[in-house]
Amino acid sequence: MNSDSDLQIAGDILEVPHLLQPPREHPATVAEFVGLARSIAADRSQWEHLVRYDATTRWYHRLRTGPGYEVWLLSWVPGQGSGLHDHGRSSGVLTLLEGTLTERTERGTRALGEGAQRVFAPGYVHEVVNDALEPAVSLHVYYPGLTEMPMHTTCTAAPATHDEVDAVTA
Ligand SMILES: [Fe+2]
Repeated sequence: MNSDSDLQIAGDILEVPHLLQPPREHPATVAEFVGLARSIAADRSQWEHLVRYDATTRWYHRLRTGPGYEVWLLSWVPGQGSGLHDHGRSSGVLTLLEGTLTERTERGTRALGEGAQRVFAPGYVHEVVNDALEPAVSLHVYYPGLTEMPMHTTCTAAPATHDEVDAVTA
């Protein structure tokens, strides 16, 4: 017997399936939420036909829900923006599906091109705007689902009064 082989010492794990982690139906880690967003982004048939553009108000559509999380599809015509906000108790993953968006935070401004992803924790304050000349589409995963989006007047200030809470997601 070859004692150098772990396989021979421990046996073949595929023969003891109860020791294997069952594949998860729903994401439960940051990496899995990022992976979920990437898989939806890569499969345009899941979202492309649903996208609408509305010049008068921000357009959004709840694409999917799962235990403790929600997936939203948003469109942004040139000039539309979220205003400065946080996401209440929710963490999130923002993924650019199409076009370019600009994200502003207290740390500066960054352009988000197609495929770009931003992961944020509760309390993260940002503003997202389409200051490009083409419409943009983005995918937002929130965990737990977004229940409030307090607006801010500056990146570091406490949320504005509750009356200013906006239900539109970003
Ligand atoms: Fe946001």
